[in-house]
Amino acid sequence: MSITKGHFGTLPDGRSVNYFTLKNSKGFQAQITNFGGILISLKAPDRVGKLEDVVLGYEKLEDYNKKAFYFGAIIGRHANRIANASFELDGKEYKLFKNEGENHLHGGEVGFDKVLWNYEVYEDSLELSYTSKDKEEGYPGNLKVMVIYTLSEENELRIEYSAVSDKTTVINLTNHSYFNLSGHASGDILKHKVWINADKFTVIDEASLPNGEFRDVKGTPLDFTSPTYIGDRINDSDPQMVFAGGYDHNYVLNTAGNLKEKAAEVYDEVSGRVMEVYTDKPGIQFYSGNFLDGSAIGKGGAVYNKRQALCLETQFFPNAMVHKNFPSPILKAGDTYNYTTIYKFSSR
Ligand code: GLA
Repeated sequence: MSITKGHFGTLPDGRSVNYFTLKNSKGFQAQITNFGGILISLKAPDRVGKLEDVVLGYEKLEDYNKKAFYFGAIIGRHANRIANASFELDGKEYKLFKNEGENHLHGGEVGFDKVLWNYEVYEDSLELSYTSKDKEEGYPGNLKVMVIYTLSEENELRIEYSAVSDKTTVINLTNHSYFNLSGHASGDILKHKVWINADKFTVIDEASLPNGEFRDVKGTPLDFTSPTYIGDRINDSDPQMVFAGGYDHNYVLNTAGNLKEKAAEVYDEVSGRVMEVYTDKPGIQFYSGNFLDGSAIGKGGAVYNKRQALCLETQFFPNAMVHKNFPSPILKAGDTYNYTTIYKFSSR
């Protein structure tokens, strides 16, 4: 294992931004910047050992600071949507920033994806930390957040999230990496096979907000209980697929609370790459890159078109402050939020 540090760029206010290269003895490698905690590249071997960058991203810091696709970033204080950009906590209403119609998405105007994190480098891990001030983006409490990226000899990228607040608040952290196992510049992901360890998903409305209902995946185009090509049913006329323009749904994981059992797997027959996902969080947002539209010019000039990548964002369920039947994203003052997600790469 080795970790090296480089200069990524300079923010408009003069602060210097770094990037870190974490590499194991097999060449498996992750590059992460302390701006937004963004995973800027991830090189994984295919079935003949050829390394390829399997995450979408930009070459320059300026692009990450401007554009809105959240490539590779840490999302917080609350990943995904909060209806009407407000929530009630202990009898008080909190107003958040509206950045998707009437709703609040991925932490607001300046979410954790667009702030500079402090860093500490250890033998096999990079520790990022950030203090989100009381009332930042409308959320209560001074929140100390820590995200630790660790690379293993088993080709795992482990992301450990922890946080503590001095006031009761809500929190739902995730990483928003866009994966394409054939390589970030290789076209769409419709021929990737996906398996998700979930018998139910949360039903969405026209605005992609969960309406509180759990639905069995069986008999719907959202059933990934056996490995299925993403492209097979993505244009199905089921309103769930129409509302989201593809897959953009929260799956209710059978593995909630259990980091040892596999939560999801993606297989790319072309390259042979396999990505397994492990997490102790209760949900996973399976997003098929429906909003990508060719406007993002990424690494090496790659044009990122619709469905060029998929996200598996481990999380609490969206809009959980309204639906009391969902696991609660409330973090009590002084308590510790602590979850882990592992993306493990292999080939076959
Ligand atoms: C998540 C959301 C999507 C979209 C992307 C970012 O996956 O569920 O609807 O907002 O992030 O574009």
